[in-house]
Amino acid sequence: MRDASSADTLLDWYDAHARVLPWRVGPSDRRVGVSPDPYRVWLSEIMLQQTTVAAVKSYYLRFIELWPTVQRLAAAEDAAVMAEWAGLGYYARARNLLKCARVLTHDFNGRFPEDYAALLDLPGIGPYTAAAISAIAFDRPVTVVDGNVERVVARLFAVEDPVPASKSALAAHAETLTPRLRPGDHAQAMMDLGATICTPRNPTCGICPLMDGCEARARGIAADLPRKLPKKAKPTRLGTVYVARREDGAFLVETRAEKGLLGGMLGWPGTEWSDHASEDAPPVDAAWTPLGEEVRHTFTHFHLKLSVQTAVLGNDAVPLRGRFIARREFRPSDMPTVMRKAYDLASETLAAQAEQEEAAGSPD
Ligand code: ADE
Repeated sequence: MRDASSADTLLDWYDAHARVLPWRVGPSDRRVGVSPDPYRVWLSEIMLQQTTVAAVKSYYLRFIELWPTVQRLAAAEDAAVMAEWAGLGYYARARNLLKCARVLTHDFNGRFPEDYAALLDLPGIGPYTAAAISAIAFDRPVTVVDGNVERVVARLFAVEDPVPASKSALAAHAETLTPRLRPGDHAQAMMDLGATICTPRNPTCGICPLMDGCEARARGIAADLPRKLPKKAKPTRLGTVYVARREDGAFLVETRAEKGLLGGMLGWPGTEWSDHASEDAPPVDAAWTPLGEEVRHTFTHFHLKLSVQTAVLGNDAVPLRGRFIARREFRPSDMPTVMRKAYDLASETLAAQAEQEEAAGSPD
């Protein structure tokens, strides 16, 4: 039976097995009247898009420590927020996070709207996040559909059409399961079930609370669902970054344009990334040395091979682009992962170059 009684069974399972997560108000606390903080629900849901629970935990805790309320986040410096987000990826999320915090603070008196449609109007809040906030923070009976939920539903109802074409059918099935009582816990229970039992590979159907009503299990095809169309091969793009260190230890960095990949993040000056090596000029006149090794990084739509050039500059160097950041203010962890990889590769070479320059006298 895949109906109201499945929802009850799932809630019983959640009461006993809910994951303990830093942003979650667990079922026993909810029972004694503790309500989730919508700010924390929103922050966690934005961070969890495209990112695993394990990767998000430390970022989430740091954000809450630095900016415990939406008003505090709204008042933060853009660069500080981007730096704390560095390493989480999908940086448009961080730019929209700030925009949204400011809209909420200035136009909504710091309070989140409760209903789906009003949430959907806010920057960076799409259908998934609007549903998740409305259900989890405000216990509204909205159906929340993420990848975990799609998988659970595809199996429960044995939907054999491949995703993404079957997404709306899966959402319609998910809606039939959403209870009017405890819809927020139901949404989180579906996610937990998908993350811990109804996993993409080797689902542990033998301990699943919904095993009796699962059509895919009955037919022996649970592990094959949801079916997926073959993925398109990703193209490879090429580029160069220039990692320069001044004699006094300062690094030449730039804040990337707001629009586009890694927008608003700290990075090394470099060329465009395209399917052929580009001839862009370096950001400062210097004796550039190419590293023997390239940085490799994969984005959603392409692989990147990045050549790294290094140079040690005199203290009077005048760059054509970028700005110097003092050694003591430079934290490689403020950079997105691809830029930090370039730093990791370059830093040994730079140290060796600096030593040589010192031995040979001042570089001019
Ligand atoms: N993944 C995305 N949102 C989640 C949540 N609220 N709980 C657990 N896993 C999630």
